[in-house]
Amino acid sequence: MPLAHFDGALAVVTGAGSGIGRAIALALAESGASVIAADIDLPAAERTVTRAKTVGAGGAAYQVDVADAGAMEAFAAEVKDAHRVPDIVVNNAGIALAGPFLDTELDDWHRIVDVNLWGVIHGCRLFGRQMRDRVAALPNKPDKPNLGGHIVNISSASAFAPWRAMPAYCTTKAAVLMLSESLRAELAGHRIGVTAVCPGFVSTDLVKNGSFVEGDTAAPGKLRQRGQQAIQLRNYPPEKVAERVVHAIVKNKPVVPVNFEGHLLHALSRVSPATLRLLARIPTPQG
Ligand SMILES: NC(=O)c1ccc[n+]([C@@H]2O[C@H](COP(=O)([O-])OP(=O)(O)OC[C@H]3O[C@@H](n4cnc5c(N)ncnc54)[C@H](O)[C@@H]3O)[C@@H](O)[C@H]2O)c1
Repeated sequence: MPLAHFDGALAVVTGAGSGIGRAIALALAESGASVIAADIDLPAAERTVTRAKTVGAGGAAYQVDVADAGAMEAFAAEVKDAHRVPDIVVNNAGIALAGPFLDTELDDWHRIVDVNLWGVIHGCRLFGRQMRDRVAALPNKPDKPNLGGHIVNISSASAFAPWRAMPAYCTTKAAVLMLSESLRAELAGHRIGVTAVCPGFVSTDLVKNGSFVEGDTAAPGKLRQRGQQAIQLRNYPPEKVAERVVHAIVKNKPVVPVNFEGHLLHALSRVSPATLRLLARIPTPQG
C-alpha cells in the first residue's frame, strides 16, 4: 500500500546535487518531506538543500561516494542518529560510460559497477534494514498498512534494451531493475514498497560528466559533444521524472518507464525482443 502523503516524512536522495536527483529532492520537499541530499559533490548537495528550504521543509546535505561501502555505512548510521530512519530512500546517483565492450578497461568497468550497482545495493541494504527493523517494532494498524516506507531505484530505459554503444551502462541498469523487482518481493511483507524508475533520455549533465571509451573511433571529445547535443535536443526535463517518482511512491508502482522512448523500449522488450536486438546494433555516432 502506498504512503498517503509526505508531510513530516524524511527522504534520502543520493546524487541530489544535479539533474534528476535534484529535481526529485525538490519535488519531495514540495510534497512536505524533509530531504537529506547526498552527493559526492557537497557544494552541489548544499545548493539543493538551500532550494529545498524555499519550496518546503528543507533538510540537510551530506557528502558521500555511494560506491564506498564504509562511507555509505557511516552515512546511513549518521542519518539514523542525527535524524531518524528515513521513510523514503531514492538511490539515484549514477554515471554514464559509453564505448565498445572490447575496448572498455577493467578500471572503467569497476567504477561504473561500483557506482551504478553497488551504490544502489548499499542504499537498499543499509536503509532497507533500518526500515525493516523500525516496522517490526510498530504495531500493525490495518488502516495504516504502509508505515514501512518506500525505496526508489533509478534504473533506465536502457535496462529494457541492449545497446552496443553502452554495454556497461545497460548492464548496470538491467541489474538495478532486477534487484528492485527481487527486493520488492522480499520487502512486501515488511510493508516497504520498492520501485524501479526507467527513464529514456533526460536533459541533465549525465553525458557531460560521463566517460567515453575511445576504441578505434574518433576523438572522445567529439562523441561527448554529440551525446550532449542529443540529450539537450531531446529536451525532457528532470522535473517530469521527479513527478513520476512522487506518483510512483504514492501508488506503490513496481516499474515506471518514463517518457516516449522509456515506454517504447519497455513495450518492445515484451512484444518484440527481436526488434530490440536489431536496434542494439546502432553504433555510437562514429562507431
Ligand atoms: N539523464 C538521462 O538521460 C538518464 C536516463 C535514465 C536514467 N538516468 C539515471 O538517472 C540518475 C541521475 O543521473 P542524471 O541524469 O541526473 O545525471 P547528473 O550527472 O546530472 O547527476 C548525477 C549526480 O550524481 C552524483 N554522483 C555521481 N557519482 C556519485 C557517487 N559515486 N556518489 C554520490 N553521488 C554521485 C553527481 O555528482 C551528480 O550530482 C543516474 O542513475 C542515471 O543513470 C539518467
